[in-house]
Amino acid sequence: SILVLDFGSQYNQLISRRIRELGVYSELKPHTMTAAEIKALNPKGLIFSGGPNSVYEDGAFTIDPEVFNLDIPILGVCYGMQLMAHVLPGGKVAPANDSSEYGETEMDVTSDDTVLFGGTPETQTVLMSHGDYVEQVPDGFKAVATSDNTPIAAMEDTYHNFYGVQFHAEVQHTEYGMQILENFVDKAVRAERNWSMDDFIDEQITKIRETVGDKKVLLGLSGGVDSSVVGVLLQRAIGDQLTSIFVDHGLLRKNEADEVMAALGGKFGLNIIKVDAQERFLTKLAGVTDPEQKRKIIGNEFIRVFDEEAAKLDGIDFLAQGTLYTDVIESGTDTAQTIKSHHNVGGLPEDMQFQLIEPLNTLFKDEVRALGEKLGMPHELVWRQPFPGPGLGIRVLGDITEAKLEIVRESDAILREEIAKHGLDSEVWQYFTVLTGVRSVGVMGDGRTYDYTIAIRAITSVDGMTADFAKLPWDILEEISRRIVNEVDHINRVVYDITAKPPATVEWE
Ligand code: XMP
Repeated sequence: SILVLDFGSQYNQLISRRIRELGVYSELKPHTMTAAEIKALNPKGLIFSGGPNSVYEDGAFTIDPEVFNLDIPILGVCYGMQLMAHVLPGGKVAPANDSSEYGETEMDVTSDDTVLFGGTPETQTVLMSHGDYVEQVPDGFKAVATSDNTPIAAMEDTYHNFYGVQFHAEVQHTEYGMQILENFVDKAVRAERNWSMDDFIDEQITKIRETVGDKKVLLGLSGGVDSSVVGVLLQRAIGDQLTSIFVDHGLLRKNEADEVMAALGGKFGLNIIKVDAQERFLTKLAGVTDPEQKRKIIGNEFIRVFDEEAAKLDGIDFLAQGTLYTDVIESGTDTAQTIKSHHNVGGLPEDMQFQLIEPLNTLFKDEVRALGEKLGMPHELVWRQPFPGPGLGIRVLGDITEAKLEIVRESDAILREEIAKHGLDSEVWQYFTVLTGVRSVGVMGDGRTYDYTIAIRAITSVDGMTADFAKLPWDILEEISRRIVNEVDHINRVVYDITAKPPATVEWE
């Protein structure tokens, strides 16, 4: 395997994922691991991720210097490269002042004889995002690339097999990023490229069986892709030791509860207990307007309902969840900043009585879909658009009432119907309606109205980490708008959200 040591960049798991795409198993590990701990895992290569710190800051993340004596090839990315220059003798990192670089940058490869840039052109576009830069390479290294503001954009020590790149090789904006990572894997690490999703399934099944033994597991089924895939994976690993609970919190889409029960309970034979908890959630949420508070309440209540249902069952020790890597990273890890607290992570009460099993927490959405297909799940289920744990609760802006939920449910059903009718479901990654708190004046028939505004959110994305708004055809939007205003009470205006992520997020709360 190739271990990626996490120094806090939002992109760090993406590095692991790229390495897996190249057919080598990779996972993210904390940078605090000692050289001895790393050695015990016997990785074939190491990658130091980027990170938000400056190597000079007090408390800046550092690395056990002994890792450089393990005889393992290392690639440092961004902060990772600076850290190498900081820790290894002879290297020097300088604060950027006016030479910081952010965004797509033209870079020149300055050496004919490089490992990393084999098969790539002399001039190429890379994504830079750094304040500091490497002023002097450590002893034994040579500088192999340069850009206007970054004199040393990449460095190599082919004797020790140590490499550094100042840019983010893992993102798509770096034109030859994949080739550069491939060169590291093939020529520096010389790893065998034979890992696939089938191995992931086997590894997870073994791991789940080891962890669970003959104990029982409870799964929170939300009906979304993630928990459904976890359900089918667990069913395969431990069969009858799995009981699933499907909580209808009243924040689901139209007809969703019935559809989920039919698909997973029916075809896949999962043993599902359905709990009707609409009242409970609405009572807890009454009058709450703060998005983070809403998320926390829904998350907490969800687990409480579980706790109660589990208490009725005998001897449940584990709680399985379909937490994805994106949920983990955006809720804040030890090293990365919190953007939103995601339902599966931030909302867990402290007195929770279960141990957690989260087999998908190193994967991105599209990897989970590939996993679902490998598990033989039907295409419609696997390609279902993502739906957040807090459900429609974060699509009614401000305080939540049943009447408002009904508006979102109905408008969302119309949107989904139209998207399906025009065969757009596979092009648009996620699409839904949001009840904005905005009321505005309109005219219907001969009368003045003063009613609510529905926003349509439709995005394209690969993994939910970044997104563009979907360029839906005008005539389809027009039809959707007309239907919503005509068919849904208390709506007199429909707007289309044309923001990308970043700077917006996908959901409005
Ligand atoms: P954001 O709004 O964070 O959404 O840009 C990215 C993706 O994550 C989904 N999402 C969630 N999924 N629990 C989930 O399971 C949550 O709390 C949650 N919040 C957002 C969102 O629908 C989008 O696909």
